[in-house]
Parts: sequence; structure tokens; C-alpha cells
Amino acid sequence: MHKHKSNNNLGSKLDAVSMSIKQSIKNMDSYTHVRGESLYVDDVNVRQGTFHAVVFDSSKAHGKIKSIDYSEAQALEGVERIFTYKDIPGENEIGGIIKDEPLFAEREVHFWGMPIALIVAESEFIARKARGLVKIDIEELPIITTAKQAKENDSLITKPRSFSLGDAEKAFADCDYVFEGETFSNGQEHLYIEAQGAYAEPLENGNIKITSSTQGPTAVQKTVAQVLGIAMHKIEVDVTRLGGGFGGKEDQATPWAVMAALAAYHLNQSVKLILNRHDDLRMTGKRHPYESSYKIGLSKDLKILAYEAEFLQNAGAAADLSPAVAERTLFHATNSYYIPNVEVAVASCKTNLPPNTAFRGFGGPQGMFVIEAAIAKAAHEIGIPTRRIQEANLLDDNDVFSYGQIATKVEAKNTWKSATATFNIAALEKEVEDFNASNSAFKKGLALMPICFGISFTNTPMNHARALVHIYLDGSIGISTAAVEMGQGVNTKMMQIAADVFSIPIEKIKIETTNTTRVANTSPSAASSTADLNGKATLKACKVLLKRLKTVAATYLKVTAEQITLKDEFVYIEDKKSKFEWTQLISMAMLERVALTENAHYATPEIHFDKTKEKGHPFAYHVYGTAIITATVDCMRGTYEFDSVKIVHDYGKSMSEGIDLGQVEGALAQGIGWMTMEEIAYNDEGRLLSNALSTYKIPDIFSVPKEVEVIPVETQGHELAILKSKAVGEPPLMYGIGAYFAIQNAIKAFNSNYDLKFHAPMTPEKVLMGLYENPNTSQH
Ligand code: MTE
Ligand code: HPA
Ligand code: MOS
Repeated sequence: MHKHKSNNNLGSKLDAVSMSIKQSIKNMDSYTHVRGESLYVDDVNVRQGTFHAVVFDSSKAHGKIKSIDYSEAQALEGVERIFTYKDIPGENEIGGIIKDEPLFAEREVHFWGMPIALIVAESEFIARKARGLVKIDIEELPIITTAKQAKENDSLITKPRSFSLGDAEKAFADCDYVFEGETFSNGQEHLYIEAQGAYAEPLENGNIKITSSTQGPTAVQKTVAQVLGIAMHKIEVDVTRLGGGFGGKEDQATPWAVMAALAAYHLNQSVKLILNRHDDLRMTGKRHPYESSYKIGLSKDLKILAYEAEFLQNAGAAADLSPAVAERTLFHATNSYYIPNVEVAVASCKTNLPPNTAFRGFGGPQGMFVIEAAIAKAAHEIGIPTRRIQEANLLDDNDVFSYGQIATKVEAKNTWKSATATFNIAALEKEVEDFNASNSAFKKGLALMPICFGISFTNTPMNHARALVHIYLDGSIGISTAAVEMGQGVNTKMMQIAADVFSIPIEKIKIETTNTTRVANTSPSAASSTADLNGKATLKACKVLLKRLKTVAATYLKVTAEQITLKDEFVYIEDKKSKFEWTQLISMAMLERVALTENAHYATPEIHFDKTKEKGHPFAYHVYGTAIITATVDCMRGTYEFDSVKIVHDYGKSMSEGIDLGQVEGALAQGIGWMTMEEIAYNDEGRLLSNALSTYKIPDIFSVPKEVEVIPVETQGHELAILKSKAVGEPPLMYGIGAYFAIQNAIKAFNSNYDLKFHAPMTPEKVLMGLYENPNTSQH
């Protein structure tokens, strides 16, 4: 391997990394992360005289604005100006799917935390102080906080949707068992470490450059243009990386960038707007709470013959991404099971909460919780272990999903069998049984959780991407795509792709910031598809460049291009090393006037979906896996711990095992948090009660499972996945659903009169109630 000169430690570390790239690539961001050198929006070099902004928001969930008095706030020394909807030159409108969301409230407010004005001052401190001086009079209107109330009041975002397969109604008549029930799953706070924010800088000719913490730079650019009433080419949006997004910055990074841009536009000065944690928690939407009902029918041999479900999604006060999230709930309503007769419907219900939004899994987890609840209920009533029903209904090749896609290369049974065999499910169950037989103050519970998650944006037109690749004179490479690095390691994966094509060390590759001027009209980094879409575009561009370079080399070496390969920074003829190095090859290409830049476009083939029929083939492929979760419940306190989570996961052929394992572990912890301890609470007035980290608990190092073991399933991978390495960002979150059922099984072991409930999160309070409910008839 070619030795690189480097006079600092970082360089030699990077050498070490590139040498072991195939074995285990590290997230290349980790070097700046651990040094605290990674740049976020708050780190941008601000221009002298930059103003700072704070959002003035509604302190009522629903009402008519009778009057607002800004005079005292405006008079405060250091306050530059206060902007309201009246200052908007274009449209006061930021709705991405449906135009139903004003940037600033006009005459009415629709949720507690709804932006009304932007206070711009010399410092954030002054702006915040001024905010306290604004006087507002709101005449209250009736408030709806739950999806059910909204449904009863016909308060819907859009028409309900439904997917249907076979004839569920008829099939129920033939079932030996039929069970019905209701479920609830709560919202979830994204709690990205970096709060929402943007920095807007006016340039010449009315152009504005925006540095934004967004998953969707194009959405920011487009919305700023609409609100300011100017052309998109005047707006440049730049993203270095996010301190986490988790879906919370797919749509909801936009308003803050637009507000900063609006102020910069009027003041002709830079404006920085970064929410503090309290403002962020109060003003932004979360995962959608769902109130759902199900009906499940089974035959004597435990085949699920029919399944019906109705999902009521609490969308909040505006559409945001809710209709798309609702659609994905339907796509995942039967999880990894084949059910021949399905009737599932979803309604996006309009309430007076902040508009809820994308969150890892995008409605999929909410749908999967319900089918798992239905199966647990059936197993409980029949008196058998849940896993027998799960196992009897796992999806197989050529089974059809309710939305018409035929399942292929299915790994449901493969991961299940592999997990139950490798981790010896019988032994694990025996351990639990033995423990429960000899302990009364603590009980253990075990649950299996299979997953199946569709990869692609469900909205087919969003599934394309571009890459712009420059090879510089010295052989170093710069790559621009739409991919936003948010901790998931996508930049490292793209470096790997280029390093692999050209066979050069990874430190020769730089991933540029995500910028709308270099790569335009992009989909957000979301749907777990970022590496597939942008990676495939990068691969395509690199391959075109490689072909060109081979032709140059062939001319110089007087052989054919087919005989040329590049290996370890050298040109090879067949298997023989030539005298030409990579950098010389680039010089030769320049002398030959060959373009060293390529711009490629990739659009996922094969996918389509017809919304009028609710049938099609929306996903490039599915990701599968099976988790076994064991919990121990403290029956005096209602608290619990997770002893272990053992997973067989379908990575395809992972191109970055360390990164992908990190994604599985992180998603698992986030899923467990959603199902067990994270409790969003709004009061009847629509005010967020869990409005700080003291009242909203997320998993910490003490509450994550004591042991997590993840092994890859044996598989060939999928052609539509980048280098056969399947998307990994969202699917493993749904392993966390198993945590709910593991705890529930422990409660059942303690209290045989426990009434099965499906009301997530399973907080210690609920566990305690479950342990001691129905005491009169209790056998204890
Ligand atoms: N991992 C980290 N560290 N930070 C994040 O914000 N977002 C998740 C997932 N993993 C996220 C993450 C979500 S919601 C998605 S859709 C994917 O990453 C997006 O990135 P990908 O498409 O590259 O998987
Ligand atoms: N996932 C994530 N984000 C999206 C999707 C999706 O399927 N569709 C539109 N935005
Ligand atoms: Mo992820 S919820 O698709 O940003």
C-alpha cells in the first residue's frame, strides 16, 4: 500500500483507517466529534453586526388574537425590529404537502407554541427579555387535544385512506378465534442534541445564504423563496452536518430558516436564530400519538386469516408530513406477517397540538405496535405463547402485501429461525421460567419482535438523487450530493464508495457540505434512503470518471481500456503494475483535456404506486430482522431493566459494519424509550407539560439494555441497496416494540388477573398498576 506523508497524528490515523476500510470502517466524523471540532450552525463565523432572534409564540392552544402590544418590547434598548405576518412580502405559508400552515399566526392561533412574531435584537439575551414585554390578548376557542375528539368533531387534515386485501369481513366468519381491542401509542420527542436553528446572511443583489440545521435543504430554499416572493436561485442553503435530526428536521427545520431569512432580507444584515431547548420542545411537533382499534381472526392452527385496524393519527394543528406518515402506517400495518384478508384505514386528525411530524420509522412503528398488540391479545386469550402465532404467520417469498407488492428475497423466516436457534430460545425461555418460579419480588418477561420495513420514500417521485464529483489536479476528490450527515454516517459511506471505485485511500476523498447551489432540487435526507439514493448517484458519477481515466491510461500505455484497472493508487495493465500512479494519471487526463468532473443522476428503478387503487410496488426492497428481548420487573416498585436484546438483523452485505451496528443500537434504544419511559404530556389546555429534560425522560446509559448482541443474517443483499448494503437508519427502531411486550409478560407472571392493556409507553407507574390490579380475585 502506498505510504502517505503526513506530519500529524490525524493523518496517520486516517492511514490506518483506510488500510482496514473493508474490515471495519469508522465514522469519519468521529475524529472531529471527539475533539469538539465538528461544526454546527451555532459555530458559523458570524458577520460583524449580526442580529439575534427569538420567536414570540402563542400561550394558548386555540383562540382569536384580540390584540398584541409590542410597544414596550420594541422600546427596549438593543431591539432592532419585530417581524410579524405583515412583513411577509410573499406568502405567509409553509405547508409542504398541504398549504395549511402560516409561518406567523395572523388572526387566530392553533396551538400552544405557534409562532406569532420574530423579535430581532443585538443579542439573544435582549431579544428574550423583549419577548417577556409583549402583551397579548387571546380570546379562547374550544381545544381538541386527542385524535378521537378530533374524529368525533370531523376535524380531519385530509380524507382518510384505506388499504384492502382479500375480503376481511367474509374471512372473519370462517375464523375459529376473533379478538378485538384498542391501543394507544404516545408521541415522542426527537431530542436531537442540536436544537433547531439557522443563520441567514444577505449577499449582493438580494441573494441570501442560509446555513441551516435541516434534513431538507431544498425545502428550506423553496419555502424561503415563496415566503419572500423571490426566485429560488437567490437562495443558497448550506448544511455541514446536524447534531441529530431523527425526522424532526425533515420538515420542521424550515420555519426557523425562513424567519431568519425574512429578517435578513429586511434588515440587510445577518440574523441568527437558534431555539433554546425549552422553545424547541414547546414549538416543534413530535412523533404522532395514535389511538387505534383492531380486530384479528385466526384459524385453529393459528393462521391469521383476517385483520382489521383503524388508526387515528393525532396530526396536530397543520398537515406538515402527517398524510405521508399516515400512509406509511398502512404500509406497515401487518409488519412481517402474511395475512390474506386485510382492511386497514387511517385518519389524520386535526388537533390543537404543535403539528406532529416525521420521526424515525415515519408512522411504521405506530402501525406495527397495533398488529403486535392484536397478536399478544390473541395469544393471551387462547393461552399460548405469543411467539407461536408470530412464527406461524411470517411472510414468505411471493406473498402479497395489502398494497399489492409481491414480497421477494424475504428474510422474515430466515432471521427468525436464525435468532431462535443461535440464541437458543428454549434455553432463554427456561431461564425466565426458572427465575419466575423461584422469585416473587422480581419477575422476568421475554418477547420476540420481528420487523419488516419498506425502503424508499413512499411518495415515488421523491426517489431520485444527484451527485457532483470533482477530481482535483492533485488527485484529491470532492463530492457533493443531497445527503445530509446527521450522525448516521452517510458521509463515510460515500467516501467509501469513491475510494472503492478509484482504489485510493479514503483520506483523498472529501464530502462537501450539502448545498443547494451545487446539487439542486433534492429530496430530504430521510426514509433511510439517503445512502442508497445519493450513494448510487455517487457510484454512477465515479464510474463514468473511472471509464474516462481508463481510456487516458490506455492511450498512454498503448493497450485497450478494458485491460486497465486501478489498484492501490496505481494503474495496472491486467494484473501487472504499470509505472503510472493515480496522481500521474490525473495529470495525464488534464493534458488530454479530459473532464475530471461528473454529475450523475440516479432514480430508483421498478417502484410505482397508484393512490387511486392503493396498489403498486412502492418499495425498492424490505429490511427484516428478529429481536429477542428479556426484561426484569421489580414488582415492589414497578421499575424494570432489560437484561438483554439479541438480534439477527438483515444488513444485506454491510459496507460499514461499525456504522451500521451503531445505527441498530441507537435505533433500538430510541424504540425502547418510545415504548417504555418517554412520556409526552399535554394538559387539557394543550400546554406541553413534559417541557424540559426534568419532566421528559429518555433512555440513558443506565436504562439501555445490559447486553445487546446483534448478528447479521446470512444473505446475498439486494441489488437496489448501495453495494448490496441495505438501508439501516429506521428499521431497528421497531425492535424496541418488543420491550413493551417483554414487560407485559413479566407483569402477567406476577399477576394472573392482569387485564391486558396496550397503552404505550409502559411507564413504571403503569407497570405498578398492572402488577396490583384486580386484587380481590388475585391468587397471590
Ligand atoms: N442516526 C443519527 N445518529 N442521527 C439521526 O438524526 N436519523 C434517523 C436515522 N439514523 C438519525 C440517525 C432517521 S429518522 C433516518 S430517516 C435516517 O437515519 C436518515 O439517514 P439515512 O437515510 O442515511 O439512513
Ligand atoms: N419516509 C420519510 N420521509 C418521507 C417519506 C417517507 O416514506 N415520504 C415523504 N417523506
Ligand atoms: Mo427519517 S423519520 O425518514 O427522517
